[in-house]
Amino acid sequence: MVKITINQNRTLGKRDKMIYGHFIEHFHRQIYNGIYDPDSPLSDQDGFRTDIIEAMRKIQVPILRWPGGCFVSSYHWKDAVGEDRKPFFDKAWRVEDPNTFGTDEFIKLCEKIGSEPYICTNAGTGTAEEMSDWVEYCNLEDEGQYAKWRIQNGHQEPFNVKYWSIGNENYGSWEIGAKSAEEWGRLVLESAKMMKHADPKVELSAAALPNVDWNVNLLKHCGEFLDWISIHEYWDMVPEVNDLADYEASIAFTQHIDHAVTEVRGLLQAMKLDKKIKIAFDEWNLRSWHHPNVHTIKQGIDKKDYIDPRDKNDDNSQYTMADAVFTASFLNAMNRNCDIVGMANFAPILNTRGCIYSHDEGIVLRSTYHVFDLYVNYLGDTIIDSWSEEVPTMSVQNKSGTELELESLDILATKWSDQTGIALAVVNKDPVNHQKIKLSLPANGNQVTLFCISGETKDSYNDVDREEVAIYQEALGDFENDMEIEVKPHSVNIIQIR
Ligand code: AHR
Repeated sequence: MVKITINQNRTLGKRDKMIYGHFIEHFHRQIYNGIYDPDSPLSDQDGFRTDIIEAMRKIQVPILRWPGGCFVSSYHWKDAVGEDRKPFFDKAWRVEDPNTFGTDEFIKLCEKIGSEPYICTNAGTGTAEEMSDWVEYCNLEDEGQYAKWRIQNGHQEPFNVKYWSIGNENYGSWEIGAKSAEEWGRLVLESAKMMKHADPKVELSAAALPNVDWNVNLLKHCGEFLDWISIHEYWDMVPEVNDLADYEASIAFTQHIDHAVTEVRGLLQAMKLDKKIKIAFDEWNLRSWHHPNVHTIKQGIDKKDYIDPRDKNDDNSQYTMADAVFTASFLNAMNRNCDIVGMANFAPILNTRGCIYSHDEGIVLRSTYHVFDLYVNYLGDTIIDSWSEEVPTMSVQNKSGTELELESLDILATKWSDQTGIALAVVNKDPVNHQKIKLSLPANGNQVTLFCISGETKDSYNDVDREEVAIYQEALGDFENDMEIEVKPHSVNIIQIR
């Protein structure tokens, strides 16, 4: 029996709703034949799939990062604006992009789902000037050729894009136009200067990673210009071979799930920038995307070696309770680090490893979608103090066969800043055992409701004609101190007491 004591009078911080952000890239079926499908009977007059828009609205996407990812490092935004759209050969993913989905369409998408746009710029083959021209196009009233071009394209009012990231993973050998740490510091400095001169209200991030040399150089050169620092992490790395970690190995990845945040926090503190710069964890997912023979020196020759395998990402049976439990554990960690993490973007939102899968006749809400629904719509926004006693541990084998010991429960206590009551997130990582919890807090008489995602088995998943994972609700009656509640194995639970 795990005893959980909650002290709702001690607030640890208010989480920024942008930690429930998302990412969408010009890769496989995320944009074309995904959200943007003008020929589909399920699309609206602007070419957007209305069923997908609706699903995105339900999880209140607070911020959406676009257009990439690796895609952006050879992307030239001006070719995808206005009448004369120039198709381009996307050198990152080695496919032609018709450029029919560009900045104007992205802004329209954000308006339809009620999300802040977050634009990532080309710091691979692009220039500081090209980046600041993009800010001019989006944010200037009517001064200069780019704002006038926006107006000419039918958008009188500025788009007011506040959030911009300079580059994507430019530290990586796989990235088009990769940079050395020194080159990166210089380019980000000049880019940030020009972008802030175009619009001083923009908030800027830059591609980074939990690596001292890279970050010290970046922050030394342009810490004064940055408002955010971007980090990425995929735990189950399967770009070349699609052999996914099983439930236990996936849960093993939750140990030290916020190590990157801890490392970057330490560096920001050491450089006295932790009160100025926040972390944008702007690409994360349990599983990396599968795209063999492109991030390698030796490129695939035949399309069947590098294009066709990408369809494997679409197999819905891969997205089980392992993905749900991992996703909830990550969101708990981001809530706990709400003082330094102000944004996190699930990568991606649609298709590939996304939480929504689309097909010609409709959509499938994968297990991770329901986790976002729970956290966005049922959990509080203020983290309160709680401590747990006698949390059982469990041993799991990680993907390389090493035995790990980790706590089977991940617990987060919250309340709402605008209403009464508390909500507890209880993640039971244990693949077989129910867990009994005993709640200690002065809230007698309040109603207790349990919202749970568990699936029949740890390998349960949703598919076109199959729904095994969904939120089920149970009224547990009046709260009495030391109330005992049982949570299912491999489950994500929100317990509301209000
Ligand atoms: O696999 C997808 C890629 O992962 C994204 O494009 C990139 O940013 C990350 O390396």
